[in-house]
Parts: sequence; structure tokens; C-alpha cells
Amino acid sequence: MIEIRNVSRIYYDTAGLPVEALQAVSLEIREGEFLSLIGPSGCGKTTLLRLIAGLDLPRSGELFIEGRAIEKPSHERGYVFQQAALFPWKTVEENIAIGLKARHIYKEKKGLVPEYIHLVGLDGFSKSYPHELSGGMMQRVAIARALINKPKVLLLDEPLGALDAFTRIELQDTIRRIRRETGTTIVLVTHDVDEAIYLSDRIAIMTARPGKINEIIKVEINSERDRNRDDFIGLRRRALEKLHLAGVVYANVQGGGEAI
Ligand SMILES: Nc1ncnc2c1ncn2[C@@H]1O[C@H](COP(=O)(O)OP(=O)(O)OP(=O)(O)O)[C@@H](O)[C@H]1O
Ligand SMILES: [Mg+2]
Repeated sequence: MIEIRNVSRIYYDTAGLPVEALQAVSLEIREGEFLSLIGPSGCGKTTLLRLIAGLDLPRSGELFIEGRAIEKPSHERGYVFQQAALFPWKTVEENIAIGLKARHIYKEKKGLVPEYIHLVGLDGFSKSYPHELSGGMMQRVAIARALINKPKVLLLDEPLGALDAFTRIELQDTIRRIRRETGTTIVLVTHDVDEAIYLSDRIAIMTARPGKINEIIKVEINSERDRNRDDFIGLRRRALEKLHLAGVVYANVQGGGEAI
């Protein structure tokens, strides 16, 4: 459904020197697939996600969605930032409704708002303001805001990175359920190997800058994914080895691979 063909992106730093963020990246993402992007800090994960979103354009190469070139942002590609970026003066339901209002379809579609509040597990909080919510709840709002436009793909840039471990696991379960219930194609950027294995069909491991796709690991665990089972542990070991080769230093590798 999404085709990334030979994409490169160069930035210029404050001294005017070129920073090669992505080098000849090619990747195909299938309809309904859950793909995670994982790799060292600064390897170009956000850059790649922004290119898919149409928030930025490549220096060379092309990106397509269903055969059409990606040239600008669109509601068919929902984006969730690491920090939820909610409007503090708007309630949960108003924040979620923003996408509908921007498309001038709020009047006919406002019935969707409570549906999406329910989908992300925020029943009872529709009139709350962001400052009354936990970090995890704010990310739930951000996810609902992106999903209410029924995007063809949901792009998640480390949406759980700033959350504590328990909240993160809860949200991982919510993301899995949302994926099951909506069938949305999802691309997730994460630093957390366990999160990638728990959620994804495939994991694309990137190398340190200039970012390239180093290896794609297929997660072939069909039953409930159990972090303590041999198949999970085997994949974790494989992913960590690849990441280590890609220049990522992980502490506590046996315990689950917290990135440092
Ligand atoms: N607007 C910009 N101007 C100049 N350099 C940039 C810009 N945006 C990103 N870069 C550089 O491009 C490289 C890739 O950045 P990017 O944000 O895509 O990495 P990342 O993999 O998302 O990192 P992290 O895991 O820390 O979020 C980095 O070296 C970064 O400093
Ligand atoms: Mg990033």
C-alpha cells in the first residue's frame, strides 16, 4: 500500500554543513500491516515517518500510497507525535473533533467523537481538559484524534516513549486492540525492542546515520505474544544483536533491552 523507493534526505546544520539523514531507503508496507521502525537515535526514523506523512519531501527518491505520489500531508495519513500536542484550552472531545472540523465534516460526523473516545478507552473523560489527564491518557486522545479521520495509515512516532513502564504496557494493549478492531495499517517508531516484537508483523532495523534499512525481521508468533516465551526471547535476542551491530548500546539486554 505504501511504497518507499530509494529515498534520501539531507539536512543542513547551522554551519551550513550537510547532514545525510536518510540514504537510499526502500521499503514496502502492506495494507493492514503493523510495521515498526527501530534504530539508533538520530538515524532518521522521524525523518522517514515525516516523509510518509507528507510533512517533508525527499531530496531524491519517491513515496507512494496506493500508487499515488505522496506530496503533502493528508487526513488519509494520521500522525501521532511523541508528545501528544493537545490544545490545552480544549476538552478531550474538542481535541478529538479537530480533525473533523478541519475537513468541515464535523456537523454530519460528530457522532463519531464518542465512538472514538470509547475506542481509545476514555469513556467518562470527554469533558476533561488535558491538564486533568495523565500522559498515557493524553496519548489516547492524540491517537483518537488521528483515527477519527479513518486514515489509511496511522504513523506513530514514539508515542509511548515518555510514559512509565506500566502505562506503556497498557497502551500497547490498547494499540493492539485498536489495530484488531479497525484493521488500520500502522507504522510505529520505537526504541523499545519488546514493544516492537509485541505489536508488529515486521520490524525494520535501521543503521546509524546515514539511515538505511539494515534488516527486516518478520515476527512469526501468531498466538498471544508472551514476553517470557522462548519464541519471544529468541526474536528479542536477534533484534538486539542486529541493533548492536547497527551501533545501539543497550543495557540490561537479558531483562528486556532498555535503550540508553
Ligand atoms: N530540521 C533539521 N535540520 C537539521 N538537521 C536535522 C533536522 N531534522 C533532523 N536532523 C538531523 O537528521 C538526523 C536524523 O534525525 P531524525 O529526527 O530523523 O532521527 P531519529 O532517528 O528520529 O532520532 P531519535 O531516535 O533521537 O528521535 C539527525 O542527525 C538530526 O540531527
Ligand atoms: Mg525521532
